[in-house]
Amino acid sequence: MQVHEQKAPQEAVPALQQRSLVLVGLMGAGKSTVGRRLASALRLPFHDADHEIEAAAGCSITDFFERYGEPAFREGERKVIARLLSGPRHVLATGGGAFMDPQTRALIKERGLSIWLRADISLLMERVTKRPTRPLLKSGDPRATMERLINERYPVYAEADITVDSNGGPHEAVMHQIITKLAALGVKSYS
Ligand code: S3P
Repeated sequence: MQVHEQKAPQEAVPALQQRSLVLVGLMGAGKSTVGRRLASALRLPFHDADHEIEAAAGCSITDFFERYGEPAFREGERKVIARLLSGPRHVLATGGGAFMDPQTRALIKERGLSIWLRADISLLMERVTKRPTRPLLKSGDPRATMERLINERYPVYAEADITVDSNGGPHEAVMHQIITKLAALGVKSYS
């Protein structure tokens, strides 16, 4: 007698309109601030991947980097984002390196709708120097590091479903640009 193996049911790929909205971009681009506003305009829950990692690890991102190093951080980030994206629809602000991880990027492409907040170096530097907590910018020349990250990451962030320029104007304006672009993709806004 032939025994047929029972396959686990495949998780359906959600339609674009049902997907979580995932903000990607460099440190200082405004992912958390804009994300929070976007979530409230669309009446969706908001999650911040960095905060979730801090809550899960019981320490700050800075301490996490110091204690366990960047590879362990990336692993934690991958797990946290996978958990969030398997849950109900929400707006998710990711840390700047998340979309650079091939596994996380693949998952975001499959389960999320990605939004790149693009900003130029002067705006990013102005914002990150106000809150000097980022471990990647703590040593060496922060501006040179930011330039390197722009060169490495912008071609990859460009794979996001939507790109919105953050030019230093009000976060509200960036949020409205996102809502307009989402509407063009058939994603409804309730504001
Ligand atoms: C990182 C960005 C940070 C945080 C970590 C690493 C990066 O998040 O995840 O310090 O690799 O660009 P923000 O982009 O929210 O600052």
